[in-house]
Amino acid sequence: MPTLERNTQVLVIGGSAGIGFAIAKLFHQQGATVTLAGRNAARLSQAAHDIGAEVATVALDVTQPAELERFFARPTRWKHIIVTAASLTFGPVRSVALEDAQRIFDSKFWAAYHIARLAPFDEDASLTLVSGRFAQRAGPQTALISAVNAGIEGFARGLASELSPVRVNVLSPGFVDTGMHPEALVQKMRQRSQSLPVKRIARPEDIASAALLLATNPMISGTVLAVDGGDTVSFT
Ligand SMILES: NC(=O)c1ccc[n+]([C@@H]2O[C@H](COP(=O)([O-])OP(=O)(O)OC[C@H]3O[C@@H](n4cnc5c(N)ncnc54)[C@H](OP(=O)(O)O)[C@@H]3O)[C@@H](O)[C@H]2O)c1
Repeated sequence: MPTLERNTQVLVIGGSAGIGFAIAKLFHQQGATVTLAGRNAARLSQAAHDIGAEVATVALDVTQPAELERFFARPTRWKHIIVTAASLTFGPVRSVALEDAQRIFDSKFWAAYHIARLAPFDEDASLTLVSGRFAQRAGPQTALISAVNAGIEGFARGLASELSPVRVNVLSPGFVDTGMHPEALVQKMRQRSQSLPVKRIARPEDIASAALLLATNPMISGTVLAVDGGDTVSFT
């Protein structure tokens, strides 16, 4: 059973909230030395405090390549980098403002591009990106989200060859109840989940355990792992 070595350097970009927070917490429980990155310093400090002792934080905005360049110029070599940061706007292409549409790609696709170019990796390292179910399944408000998620998946497949021996993988969650969604949406998704094989919506911890698998299994690279309760094989 692959495990994390103690004090393994793990960077979770987007670790101050939601899925990233759950990933950081699990890796910390497994003995890793965890660094959380996000834009808001106060939110990062609170998250580090909630996770436990000796969690480092760094305030940076992934849409600013110069900030990423400065950060990755530090001497740390990372064993596992997990990128969950994203600023997304749902809505029809004809309604979403150009700057919001661009922010979707800046915060998710171009951020992954800069991280892949700049990050210094240790031996036996991994990079895990996050796409989402809308890479395959779309609705009237999701064309931009579908595009960025599909882009992340294609990018990671190519990176798995280019960055080798660093392993590069993607997590693709369905709806995850992070506590940040409006209650009405959570209720709606709860009802819909009854048509999923697993009959419930995901918790951030469900995605975190999949992230640990991708980081620690030495034979997984170039994979898109759906953590969607079986949505891929459900009828509706
Ligand atoms: N939740 C779901 O239902 C779901 C489903 C499928 C896929 N996903 C994907 O999973 C990933 C994580 O989603 P989530 O729901 O956990 O998001 P979330 O709760 O909104 O958390 C996003 C994290 O990223 C940070 N962040 C956002 N923009 C950033 C930027 N420009 N630079 C640096 N950090 C930034 C946020 O902190 P600051 O705001 O302080 O910077 C926060 O720590 C996203 O890629 C999302 O598309 C989520």
